[in-house]
Amino acid sequence: MMASNSGPTALAPAGPSVRVRAPAKINLYLAVGDVREDGYHDLVTVFQAVDLADELTVRPARRSAVRTTPPDGVPVGAKNLAGVAARLLATRTKSGGPVAIDIAKQIPVAGGMAGGSADAAAALVGCAALWELRVQRQELIEIGREIGADVPFALAGGTALGTGRGDLLSPVMTRARLHWVLAIADHGLSTPAVFAELDRLRAQGGGPPPVRPVDTMLAALTSGEPAKIAAALGNDLQAAAISLAPGLRRTLRAGEQAGALGGLVSGSGPTVALLCADAESAGAVAAELAGSGTCRSVRVAAGPAPGARVLPNGGTG
Ligand code: C5P
Repeated sequence: MMASNSGPTALAPAGPSVRVRAPAKINLYLAVGDVREDGYHDLVTVFQAVDLADELTVRPARRSAVRTTPPDGVPVGAKNLAGVAARLLATRTKSGGPVAIDIAKQIPVAGGMAGGSADAAAALVGCAALWELRVQRQELIEIGREIGADVPFALAGGTALGTGRGDLLSPVMTRARLHWVLAIADHGLSTPAVFAELDRLRAQGGGPPPVRPVDTMLAALTSGEPAKIAAALGNDLQAAAISLAPGLRRTLRAGEQAGALGGLVSGSGPTVALLCADAESAGAVAAELAGSGTCRSVRVAAGPAPGARVLPNGGTG
């Protein structure tokens, strides 16, 4: 079992290190189909990576360890997805060795923005660089798929259409640079619990009306017009997230009243993503939302952003 949040001694540099940055995602569109035999749901989703990111430092160590700053709420020990990713890459490529992974977290934990998947993607990219593996990004994506449904997108970045479990990706071209305000809740939501709540609502016959076909969103992204993209935002999980966390209704209303073009719960929530007309409007919406008392904190973010990548000065450390 890997040590976790262990003291600085376990993480003392034992050689060169690699720094990696991996983005959070927003689901601009998320249609949830039936539950499958493997327990996952068939999805049609449009992801966008944004410039809110976690940074990982990976270095060789006498024994493997993962430390997260701040540590609150991040899974520790063998469950930490960055550690899982490092071990899986070592097994698959029959290379590498113990690594110490330091995670500087910006992405909200259990927030519907795929923070754990971003850390897994970063660990794959970081270990591949540290161990000087000759692997293509596509091979990392195949390994990432085994770790979690959102890991392939954290490797790919940009804007993409996801099908299957959300892990079969095709890039979506868009001219738009989108300016978001993120309302971060003072609690997390468990992704399996939110999917189960949607199943429950649907089984009772009181499920939310399904989102419109994805074509409207794809056409809006082609147009590059934020107002059209805002009108096409949709998430089948939103009603389930609100059912478990009713306060999200107030957050969405406050964001729209503050001047956002549109908003939605990101993925399984509880982070609310508000799309704004431009950077200036996002700044104003963020300031007003921060004073609304409807969320713990507020961030501005822009997309699309690149997938997990080694930082240029990360060669030695
Ligand atoms: O793949 P990942 O571990 O991130 O997924 C977390 C959980 O979210 C799954 O165990 C499943 O309960 C739910 N999920 C789902 N359908 C998907 C993706 C995730 O039901 N397509």
